[in-house]
Amino acid sequence: MPSVDHTTPPFAERIAELLARLSLDEKIGQLQQVAGAGGHVSDDLARAVREGRVGSVINEVHAPTVNALQWIAVHESRHGIPLLIGRDVIHGFATVFPIPLGQAASWNPDVVERGARIAAREAAACGVNWTFAPMIDIGRDPRWGRVAEGYGEDPYLTATLAAAAVRGFQTHDLTAPDAIAACAKHFVGYGASESGRDYNSTNIAPRELRDVHLPPFAAAVQAGVASVMTSFSDLDGIPASANRDLLTGVLRDTWGFDGLVVSDWDSIRQLAVHGLTADEWGSAREAALAGVDMEMASTTYAAHLAELVRSGHVPLAQVDAMVSNVLRLKFRLGLFERPFTEPASFPVAGNDAHLDAAYASACESIVLLTNTQREHEYLLPLAAGALQRVAVIGPLADDPYEQLGTWIFDGDAQHSRTVLQALRHTLPDSVQIEVAPGVPNTRSHDESGFADAVRAAERAEVAILVLGEESILSGEAHCRADVSLPGAQERLVEAVLATGTPVVLVIMAGRALALERIAHRVHALLYAWHPGSLGGPAIVDLLFGVVAPSARLPVTLPRVTGQIPIYYAQKHTGKPATPETVVSIHDIHPRAPQLSIGNTSFHLDVDPAPLFPFGYGLTYTWVEYDAPSVQHAEVALTGTVELSATITNRGARAADEVVQLYVRDLVGSVTRPVRELKGFQRVHLAPGERRTVHFSLPVSALAFHGRDLTLAVEPGRFHAWVAPHAAAGTFVEFSVCA
Ligand code: BGC
Repeated sequence: MPSVDHTTPPFAERIAELLARLSLDEKIGQLQQVAGAGGHVSDDLARAVREGRVGSVINEVHAPTVNALQWIAVHESRHGIPLLIGRDVIHGFATVFPIPLGQAASWNPDVVERGARIAAREAAACGVNWTFAPMIDIGRDPRWGRVAEGYGEDPYLTATLAAAAVRGFQTHDLTAPDAIAACAKHFVGYGASESGRDYNSTNIAPRELRDVHLPPFAAAVQAGVASVMTSFSDLDGIPASANRDLLTGVLRDTWGFDGLVVSDWDSIRQLAVHGLTADEWGSAREAALAGVDMEMASTTYAAHLAELVRSGHVPLAQVDAMVSNVLRLKFRLGLFERPFTEPASFPVAGNDAHLDAAYASACESIVLLTNTQREHEYLLPLAAGALQRVAVIGPLADDPYEQLGTWIFDGDAQHSRTVLQALRHTLPDSVQIEVAPGVPNTRSHDESGFADAVRAAERAEVAILVLGEESILSGEAHCRADVSLPGAQERLVEAVLATGTPVVLVIMAGRALALERIAHRVHALLYAWHPGSLGGPAIVDLLFGVVAPSARLPVTLPRVTGQIPIYYAQKHTGKPATPETVVSIHDIHPRAPQLSIGNTSFHLDVDPAPLFPFGYGLTYTWVEYDAPSVQHAEVALTGTVELSATITNRGARAADEVVQLYVRDLVGSVTRPVRELKGFQRVHLAPGERRTVHFSLPVSALAFHGRDLTLAVEPGRFHAWVAPHAAAGTFVEFSVCA
């Protein structure tokens, strides 16, 4: 089981010494997080900090104000305890990186780590010492707007990137001036909100909770994450902020987490709204006993915890443990030694080096999904020299703000470079660029701009359409019941396609959209998520082949909304669909008799395969995979499976190939997914290069929670694929022997 980082000094003595001096009210003060006034110190806040009623301030990023608050805490309060300054630094600060879902498409932990590093540096300059990231909820339902904030549908990929984010925010030395505490959120299961509606209930079977939703949090704890945030959602009837089995049982007792657990905004007060408690008194009691150390925004602890202790409903030892967790983080961050920020000692936010990193991150995050041949030539990469006229269509082609995505409180759209700006910069003056938004925004049904768009396309050799979703259509509380392209955009695509001009469609979105009606009709399709500050140049450099696409889908793209949830690691079922058994609604004759024999698991009105599978993505060359091989077909329970496959770059361009290892456990005490990702490597291949890729898979990585819910590897037969995506490749078989 993962354990915490033991390299940090033990602060037990300093904590005990402080605890001995704090009154009960002052202890409870450490458990309270309050909102900043936004750029100034309000009298109320100053008084509260001075009187020791505040442990943390959220949403104050004005450095002089932060320093003024720290001054009051350190010099004017009785015990001089500095403040935690929290902020949602989710995918950048002033410099905005692709949304986390986009960064996940890089399948590159370095991209995530570098993005978090720069975000931390820019935030720390303002006095922020704690971010509420990474969000590592498994997102298998793109109706849920918060899939934008996470790393996709897969526990292994999410766990890998979670650890990278923690390293990036915290570094190996949390006391460094530019390191900030990370927060793994939302513990746990929030991604399973029913019908993809935010804040909704979740019902996750115990095994799925352990095999799918908990592993990323275990990985974050193992990486030394400083804090964990509870989810708004309830799981099997227990709201996360009151779930002692998970917060104390799993997180602390099993995983050994000794960091800080913070509630989500107001989520303790909401225990009564859920109907778990009758009032705030009960909510404070439930949350404290469950193991929520700090209360964000609501004030049930401040109002009731002292009385709860005095009346014996919450042991003082529990409050001491909660306060210790808060103080430990303050010591870990070195706040007692260095409470103030010195903005002048930091690089300027949004500097060229930071923007270059955002550009590189976007280049690695944008997925090429289709690229059709015309007269034996692929449409992409476009050759700038061969163009005379380009039509640039769509509401997102030149919108510096919308390309940034959700959660950009501190994002500065002035740093943004749009697709149109980048095209103007890249293309020679001889190329005419004709611009026509087509629709006023992504949601609009106004078709009055179509005629201009069509005219522009008719005159051009290529039409570049930049469509998708504005930022506000994803993120917290922004869920959609229909995840197709909103507004009149599909009709705009149809109208432009009707001109016969080749169409390159670039999608910017905060989720997997259902694009069945257009994906294979446009001539090339690039999925850019919300690509951040430098999304424009990255897209243009990919389109013109300055950079070769290398990103892969971190989520399955559905054909239509009704297929959701659709993810690669599904179960086989007793009646799996096969091409021979799938029947279309149109093949059923009137009054066909009901017949269940021979039927399989599919919808009558959609192809059972996803539009694009998990792990999918093209580049400008063709990489061929030989069948994988296994060194020893029989491996002991304590052993390692040595797998390899040879891949060859058959084209004339170099490529960064994401080689993926999947495994299927053929027979289990419970049914097992048809494939599970167990490893991946980014491999650079020169044109014509042939390379053998090795994976050493410890047998322990095949463990799952069996029928009795204990984690174990069950001996037996396995299939392994070394493949370019979750629906490709041939398998090799191996056995694990008892
Ligand atoms: C969100 C959290 C966020 C918090 C503070 C909540 O509404 O669920 O993810 O960190 O607000 O802004």
